[in-house]
Amino acid sequence: MKVELYFTHSGLAESDLSGKTVVIIDVLRACTVVCSAFAAGCREIIPVKTIGDASMLAANLDREVVLLAGERDGHKIDGFDLGNSPFEFTEDIVRDKIIILASTNGSKAMVLGSGGDSCYAASFVNISTVVDQIKCDGIDTAIICSGKESKFSLEDALCGGMILSKLGDQANMANDAASVALKLYEAHRDNLAGALRQCDHGRYLASIGFGSDIDFAASVDTCCILASWDNGRLIARNGC
Ligand code: MLT
Repeated sequence: MKVELYFTHSGLAESDLSGKTVVIIDVLRACTVVCSAFAAGCREIIPVKTIGDASMLAANLDREVVLLAGERDGHKIDGFDLGNSPFEFTEDIVRDKIIILASTNGSKAMVLGSGGDSCYAASFVNISTVVDQIKCDGIDTAIICSGKESKFSLEDALCGGMILSKLGDQANMANDAASVALKLYEAHRDNLAGALRQCDHGRYLASIGFGSDIDFAASVDTCCILASWDNGRLIARNGC
């Protein structure tokens, strides 16, 4: 299968993704949060592009079962129920709830990913589950790093490189970004947590008190959830 990697989602349209398996990566922290929330028993997650979209959607749903989650500049959005730290999404809060997620970059990329034949949210915490599903789908795949404000983010590229490394010979790396991401991963594979603590967004998150999120996000396969687009929202699916 042909595998392309994109360092950011800017410039891509949903129509570019039809007929493909799409993997959206946002290690710090939206996709890590998605896995945490499903592991804690949430019913579904609806990623949205803007705070306004989130508020409008919540107004049309039963507020008893809906939680508004998201961040701007890493902090919880005023008036929302949850921010974007994986540690906030505990069973007593999220079980059986519908979570509307409005993060700065990750939720936008997830909405874009809905243009694919299938679309999965990926982070280090669920990476092998996603890789197994990519192999199972067996079709051309687009790995899309959320990045930060349309710029390259090291943590997402490392995760994309690890996916490529795990796909091995099954992946025909079809663009330069895929080759670079693989080399980047090979250079950091023995100290992912260290790389995440040193990257731009990792250092920023630590500076505003979310240092523990970084080590959690670097923990490989601790949340074996397949978070998959299904009819306008993410659900937790059994893998292949
Ligand atoms: C993002 O969407 O860029 C991240 O999830 C932001 C964050 O959680 O700090």
